[in-house]
Amino acid sequence: MKTEFPENRPSLFRNWVSFVGVLIGIGALFSFLLLFTLDAISKFSNPYVSLLTYLAVPAVLITGIALAFFGAWLERRRRAKGTGPASLQIDLNSPRDRRVLITFISGSVVFLLLTAIGSYNAFNFTESVTFCGETCHKVMEPEKVTHDHGPHARVACVECHVGKGVSWFVKSKISGSYQLYSVAFKKYPTPIPTPIKNLRPARDTCEECHWPQSFVGNLDRTFNYFQSDATNSPYSIRLLLKIGGSDPRHGPVGGIHWHNLPGNKVEYIATDNARQKIPWVRVTDAQGKVTVFKTKNFTNDIAQAELRTMDCMDCHTRPAHRYLSPEKAINQAMALNKIDPAIPWIKTNAMFILTRTYKTAVEAKASIATALAAKYPNDERIKATTTTLQEIYADNFFPEMKANWSSYPDNVGHMIFPGCFRCHDGLHKTPDLSQTIKANDCNACHTILAQGAGDELNQLAPAGQKFKHPGGDYDGGCTDCHNGGP
Ligand code: HEC
Ligand code: HEC
Ligand code: HEC
Ligand code: HEC
Ligand code: HEC
Ligand code: HEC
Repeated sequence: MKTEFPENRPSLFRNWVSFVGVLIGIGALFSFLLLFTLDAISKFSNPYVSLLTYLAVPAVLITGIALAFFGAWLERRRRAKGTGPASLQIDLNSPRDRRVLITFISGSVVFLLLTAIGSYNAFNFTESVTFCGETCHKVMEPEKVTHDHGPHARVACVECHVGKGVSWFVKSKISGSYQLYSVAFKKYPTPIPTPIKNLRPARDTCEECHWPQSFVGNLDRTFNYFQSDATNSPYSIRLLLKIGGSDPRHGPVGGIHWHNLPGNKVEYIATDNARQKIPWVRVTDAQGKVTVFKTKNFTNDIAQAELRTMDCMDCHTRPAHRYLSPEKAINQAMALNKIDPAIPWIKTNAMFILTRTYKTAVEAKASIATALAAKYPNDERIKATTTTLQEIYADNFFPEMKANWSSYPDNVGHMIFPGCFRCHDGLHKTPDLSQTIKANDCNACHTILAQGAGDELNQLAPAGQKFKHPGGDYDGGCTDCHNGGP
């Protein structure tokens, strides 16, 4: 049997439009393979790279293919009109055709090369801090600003926020696309809520640089305050924080980092989203002994509740994005003489001015200047104070996003947020009431080495001293009265 082939007609794709389409398609395919490889071998995958790889580049690929078919369609129409054979006929014997071909091939090589360089640069850019923080400039401004002047300024956003491995890859893809959508359509909440459900676990982030075994030891910290009186009376407390660690080769095992020692497991149930109310805690020690502590009124069914295992982020909620409370920021500025403590009532007035409600950062900056000028006319010292207060505001208050110290609990400590006292409050007991989570002993987690003003600060008590409250005796938890504001 003999098959009848039709007359050998040149393919409809042999035309310049289709050629350009195919070239674009090859470029896109090339760029896809490159980005895919980079994304796969990079230490941290990033949702924006994926958007580029799985959305933008395929879109270009489809455009290329469409163009190729469009060229073929045009060609068919042209041939149907009977205007001769294929529009693209290359005769290698003709010098003109040879030149055209060489130009086309070298043009294609340059194009593919540029695609490679372009894709690689786009990849690096989406991985960078500039992209994460500034692309969604207004939305991420609070996090970007606080990150940039925090201790982790050189740790890229993706190192803490986007994980390794397949499941994180998928998760980050979903949340990354959702984030872009919510920014584009202004669907994001203000302030951006925490805790972040898809933050990488501490084991993958913090512990790459600070591992639990590493011994921190005792930290000597002095907290300086200025009180709300005419003379802004100073008062300082020098605390020796017993951080401890878990490597006996470097120091005693235990202390504040006891919760995270290898072998110890502390689990808890929180009854609110921000994890500020913790009525139930379970400790499993290295020997496997289990102890449950709970508050009197907690009777919920444990099987129904969501258990969380305590990790670094349960105390260090603000390692990268720390919003100073006005109290802390002003005390610090006064201790450094950036605000002159000799200006009468300056502590009280500065607190008041800083915490008024402003709609925008621009409005705040102007109002701080006018308010101070009105309170202290003809006082030269107020110039530096104005600049300092404006700086404090710009670094820690973001009215457009409703982000400031009060939006995000800082759980290291117990003065402004319950922090440690969520569990160490004297109310968490074993069911037989024989044991209570350590509380009330002001020298348990830190030693009060010295307190007061002037000479009192030189009288160190290595074994610790009884706390003297500067506002006179007090009753209740610190957070009943102190909130970081006026
Ligand atoms: C050292 C780790 C680390 C780095 C680096 C980091 N973050 Fe965070 N980020 C955190 C932690 C921890 C939280 C709070 C998580 C929680 O409580 O669930 C957080 C919270 C956030 C939030 C939620 C709002 C808030 O303030 O709680 C956003 C948005 C955010 N980060 C964006 C960024 C951006 C943008 C960058 C880079 C400019 C960045 N992060 C860098 C650790 C980090
Ligand atoms: C890529 C390395 C890296 C990662 C990841 C990292 N850190 Fe750090 N961290 C550092 C370095 C370096 C410093 C010291 C900075 C300095 O002294 O100025 C530091 C400082 C700190 C400090 C003390 C500084 C301060 O003023 O509070 C704490 C607390 C801390 N990190 C907690 C964390 C937590 C919690 C995480 C996880 C969310 C984390 N770090 C992730 C490198 C890292
Ligand atoms: C029970 C609460 C708690 C947990 C859990 C916790 N920390 Fe800390 N950590 C503290 C406190 C409190 C300090 C000292 C005060 C401060 O840094 O402001 C501290 C200090 C540190 C410091 C030293 C800061 C300095 O200035 O030198 C580092 C680093 C650190 N923690 C990392 C971690 C890492 C990593 C984890 C998780 C493995 C972790 N911490 C878990 C409470 C905790
Ligand atoms: C989720 C509850 C919880 C939180 C929050 C918490 N702790 Fe604890 N902590 C415990 C439990 C439970 C124990 C073990 C019982 C005990 O020793 O009283 C413990 C033990 C301790 C110990 C004794 C460790 C040892 O060597 O025996 C110290 C010190 C301590 N915590 C400090 C802190 C500090 C500081 C913070 C805040 C930065 C804090 N804790 C936050 C639950 C908590
Ligand atoms: C469960 C452990 C724990 C107990 C108990 C405890 N503290 Fe603290 N305290 C801390 C930690 C952690 C910090 C935070 C240090 C920091 O911010 O770096 C702190 C900070 C402070 C500060 C400085 C606060 C600030 O931010 O200006 C004062 C003052 C203080 N404690 C007083 C007390 C007094 C008084 C008591 C007894 C009623 C007490 N503490 C009991 C863990 C504890
Ligand atoms: C009943 C309310 C109340 C309680 C509870 C309370 N304080 Fe105060 N505290 C005050 C007042 C009022 C002042 C004086 C404020 C001023 O002069 O600015 C003050 C002042 C202070 C100061 C001096 C700095 C400053 O802001 O003036 C420190 C430090 C302090 N308190 C720590 C604590 C700690 C730590 C706790 C918990 C153990 C606590 N306070 C509980 C009301 C309270």
